[in-house]
Amino acid sequence: MATPLISPSILSADFARLGEEVRAIDAAGADWIHVDVMDGHFVPNITIGPMVVKALRGHTQKPFDVHLMITPVDPYLQAFADAGADIITFHPEAGPHAHRTVQAIKALGKKAGVSLNPGTPAKMLDYLYEEIDLVLVMSVNPGFGGQSFISSQLRKIEAIRKSIDKVGRAIHLEVDGGVDAVTARQCLDAGADVLVAGSATFKGGPDCYAANIAALKGAG
Ligand code: DX5
Ligand code: ZN
Repeated sequence: MATPLISPSILSADFARLGEEVRAIDAAGADWIHVDVMDGHFVPNITIGPMVVKALRGHTQKPFDVHLMITPVDPYLQAFADAGADIITFHPEAGPHAHRTVQAIKALGKKAGVSLNPGTPAKMLDYLYEEIDLVLVMSVNPGFGGQSFISSQLRKIEAIRKSIDKVGRAIHLEVDGGVDAVTARQCLDAGADVLVAGSATFKGGPDCYAANIAALKGAG
């Protein structure tokens, strides 16, 4: 199995030292930097916006994997693109026109991702596969780090992997929520190729980041 890409979620970082934390996970082997944007409306938590993404941009060359848990989405795409997002992922429930949102992200020159909540069926993606660059399967309900992995999502990952292979386009299949060395293995076996990990990356502090990321990569 190919080595997975690891996208540490900075939601579990020390927010008082975010720039330093981003540099530390970059040096520790992170492939992407996962930025969780929450609005207290689509999800019951509030995190950060484009100004923070912009402030962090100078701290790493790694792709910014920006996960928008906000509604509406479209009015904020430009701001996140300008702030330095490389991949912009949204939830189809957050706006009525998922296809239009994908087109808007692509028109900004960014990679477009679609995220499915645990209760959202894979068929939501059927008419989007021709356009999208990434599918993000939520293996917890969005809003907080440190939750337990919902195993039923493994079947969804398997189904999406089959659809992606059938379409034959280069579409990443990313999993987010409750990913540790054990569940990472299950996700990869089911067909994922990118793993988001908040708690599992940041546990133990900076001295442990490299070993934590290596353990996730080793799951492959
Ligand atoms: C949850 C976020 C996740 C979260 C993952 O809404 O989208 O990215 O930070 O955290 P862990 O890895 O701790 O479950
Ligand atoms: Zn996320």
